[in-house]
Amino acid sequence: MKKALLEVLACPLCLPEEHRLKENIRMQRKDDMIEGYLNCPKCGSAYPIRDGIAFLEPLHSGEGKLDSKYETIPVLSSYLWSHYGDLMQDPEACPAYTEWAGLVRGGPGICIDIGSAVGRFSFEMSKKCDFVIGIDKSASFIRAARELMILRRKPVSLIQEGLLTREVTLDLPEEWDGANVEFILGDAQALPFRSGAFSVAASLNLIDKVPFPMKHLKEMNRVAKATGAQLLFSDPFSWSKDVAKEEDWLGGKTTGTYAGKGIENIIDLLRGRKRQLLPEWKIEKHGHVWWKIRTHCNHFELIRSCFVKASR
Ligand SMILES: C[S@@+](CC[C@H](N)C(=O)[O-])C[C@H]1O[C@@H](n2cnc3c(N)ncnc32)[C@H](O)[C@@H]1O
Repeated sequence: MKKALLEVLACPLCLPEEHRLKENIRMQRKDDMIEGYLNCPKCGSAYPIRDGIAFLEPLHSGEGKLDSKYETIPVLSSYLWSHYGDLMQDPEACPAYTEWAGLVRGGPGICIDIGSAVGRFSFEMSKKCDFVIGIDKSASFIRAARELMILRRKPVSLIQEGLLTREVTLDLPEEWDGANVEFILGDAQALPFRSGAFSVAASLNLIDKVPFPMKHLKEMNRVAKATGAQLLFSDPFSWSKDVAKEEDWLGGKTTGTYAGKGIENIIDLLRGRKRQLLPEWKIEKHGHVWWKIRTHCNHFELIRSCFVKASR
């Protein structure tokens, strides 16, 4: 993990109190901390840094849960294609990430890409912001994103059919400078950052994947600057009881505070209507982006991800 991040980190277990973390480094390569711990002087938590990856989940188990589908090899391959299929010269690739990035204005400050997966949106934003932090719960995704950041290339095994695969090498374009990007492991519902640290906050295709969607929104709102901030939110709203209790969904219901469509409820929340996400946001644009995930060469998922772009 790049040392520069220490400026914005806070202990996720102590939230809403914000305590800086102190580094205890055993191995370092230039400004990259490779092995060691980040310690909270208040609660005594020690968050490990292993092989350059900082594990900043509040209950830092040290690795992603192995039963999570996001830790499996086929899903890693699917997401690498979904994020970088265009760089693999695949005619089936979709331009979703450049469309999302196109909604954000460039400017000074730090961008946070919450649920960054294998990093495409973070790299896109590295051309527009001073620094970008991608944060995700999947160790396998964060490892792949860091590998791309450091080596700038990665062999990818794409499933063709059954056990048949096609080997491709992914090369990052010159203009994505890995020097102003970092990827860490953490929870979107307890972001390990101090309040107001970010001038751009993005959450793409994540809210229907977390157990407490409102907690995630509040955290995104907390870490965004009170003024001079942009927010990009996008999701297909595939609510599922396997992920979150129905009472915690922010849409997809006929009754209750969040009856109706998720995107409309999120827009209302951003406008400050329920006084949950203050200071209120000004809605600049909303619409949808078509996003594609590839399972194998004859099987794709086409997803309408509904976005809202806001600023304050
Ligand atoms: C559907 S994928 C979307 C990934 C990426 N934002 C995109 O649009 O391609 C959901 C991502 O959220 C991550 N995720 C799930 N729960 C999370 C949590 N509680 N905190 C952080 N990331 C989480 C998963 O590991 C996965 O990378």
